[in-house]
Amino acid sequence: MADEKGFTLWFTGLSGAGKTTISKIVEEKLRERGSRIEVLDGDVVRENLSKGLGFSKEDRDTNIRRIAFVANLLSRNGVPVITAAISPYREIRDEARQMMDDRFIEVYVKASVETCEERDVKGLYAKARAGEIKEFTGISDPYEEPLNPEIVVETEQQSPEQSAQQILDYLEANGFIAATERAASPA
Ligand SMILES: Nc1ncnc2c1ncn2[C@@H]1O[C@H](COP(=O)(O)OP(=O)(O)OP(=O)(O)O)[C@@H](O)[C@H]1O
Ligand SMILES: [Mg+2]
Repeated sequence: MADEKGFTLWFTGLSGAGKTTISKIVEEKLRERGSRIEVLDGDVVRENLSKGLGFSKEDRDTNIRRIAFVANLLSRNGVPVITAAISPYREIRDEARQMMDDRFIEVYVKASVETCEERDVKGLYAKARAGEIKEFTGISDPYEEPLNPEIVVETEQQSPEQSAQQILDYLEANGFIAATERAASPA
C-alpha cells in the first residue's frame, strides 16, 4: 500500500476505559486491509521509550510528548498510528494536534470513573483507593476531557467491536482509508 495516507488516531481516556481493547480491534481490521498501522500503547511505551518516567505532571507530559514525536514521524511518512495512552492533559494533547494538524484524530474513549472502577481490569483502582498508588488519574490526579474530539466512543453503551467500527467508518467517511465495497444490489 505505497500510497497509504498517514494519520494518528489519538486515543485518550481513563485507565480501563478501553483504549487498548479497542485499539487492538482497529489495528487488526486495518491490517486486514493491508495497512502498515503501528500502535503506540501507553503500557508498552512506558517499558521502553519512556522507561524510568513516573506519573508526576512533568513525567506524564514528557511521556506524551515522546509519543507525539514518534506518531508525527510515522504519520507524516504515510504510516498510520494509533496512540493508546491516558494522556490526561488537554494542553499536551493540543500540542500533539498542532504538530500533526489535519493528520490528528482525537478519539475520546469514554467511560465514567465509576465504570472503570467497576471494571478494574488491572486492580489499580482498588490500590489507588487504598492509597497504595499516588497520582492515579480519575482518583487522585486530574483527567481533562477533550472539548472537541473528532470521535467519541461511548463504551458504556456499545461493545468494543461497535466502537472499532465507528472509528473505521470515520476514517472512511473522511477519506483516510478507502471505503470497503458494499455488496452491490442486483442490477
Ligand atoms: N464497550 C467497551 N469498550 C471497551 N472495553 C470494554 C467495553 N466494555 C467492557 N470493556 C472492558 O473494559 C476493559 C478496558 O481495559 P483496557 O485495558 O482496554 O483499558 P485502557 O483504556 O487501555 O486502560 P489503561 O489506560 O490502564 O491501559 C477491558 O477489560 C474490556 O474488556
Ligand atoms: Mg491500555
